[in-house]
Amino acid sequence: MLLDLPFCIVGPMVLVVVPPETFGTECCARFLALAAPFASPVVGLPTGRTPVPLFQTLSDRVQSGATSLARYDAFAIDEYGVDNPLHPCANRAFFARYWDAITGTKPVHQFDPATPDRAAEAQRFAAELAAAGGLDVAVVGIGTNGHLAFNEPGSRPKDRARAVDLAPESRAAASTCFGDATPTWGLTLGLAELLAARRVLLLANGRAKADIVRRALEGPIGPECPASFLQRHPQLTVVLDSDAASALTGQRPPGRLAPC
Ligand code: PGA
Repeated sequence: MLLDLPFCIVGPMVLVVVPPETFGTECCARFLALAAPFASPVVGLPTGRTPVPLFQTLSDRVQSGATSLARYDAFAIDEYGVDNPLHPCANRAFFARYWDAITGTKPVHQFDPATPDRAAEAQRFAAELAAAGGLDVAVVGIGTNGHLAFNEPGSRPKDRARAVDLAPESRAAASTCFGDATPTWGLTLGLAELLAARRVLLLANGRAKADIVRRALEGPIGPECPASFLQRHPQLTVVLDSDAASALTGQRPPGRLAPC
């Protein structure tokens, strides 16, 4: 799909493609705009490499007084199955650094992987989210295998928060930080809670994500690529950098070019 950057396609989903240099500012602008209609936005937040520019830009904006996150109620969308929740590679450490450290934020609601009864812990977390009214905005990255949070291939839209075995691709990605101590399992919100979000913001950057982004947005909808279920979400915004968008054919989804 050869178009000048940035470009936006508005159809069943809003698709925004930007140069890599402006990925963070675009993610930040879309996140704030999607959350704006909600008095106290309940947001689901991802970890990993992809959202780092989003959190850094948010932090800068708060620091400069341009915005405040004090009204936000944030929930981690997943966590690694670690014995010590304070492990530096666990998502808890990520949020301590990238969200909790932003002035004025409330601490992120987290799964506790040290709880012996994993199923009960998943239910506790899901109940906490339900008590908050469910997600207003779910921010998600995408794994190279098409996972959303830890909803690995084979996951279905009815799946709720639960403990799962990590797929080989997810373990390989985690091993860059965990090394020999890479977890074999994790706790995750299900596709049910993520797809029930009033708005979803999908973020992807880098060429390594190009093929799975094409499968997720233009391929058949099914459990082989859990992110493909997002095609059915009525309020989906996708922010890609030009590398992650490079395999899109433009055949689907139907939409029209619009000012960004
Ligand atoms: P990444 O992970 O941002 O580190 O690529 C994304 C994901 O696995 O959801």
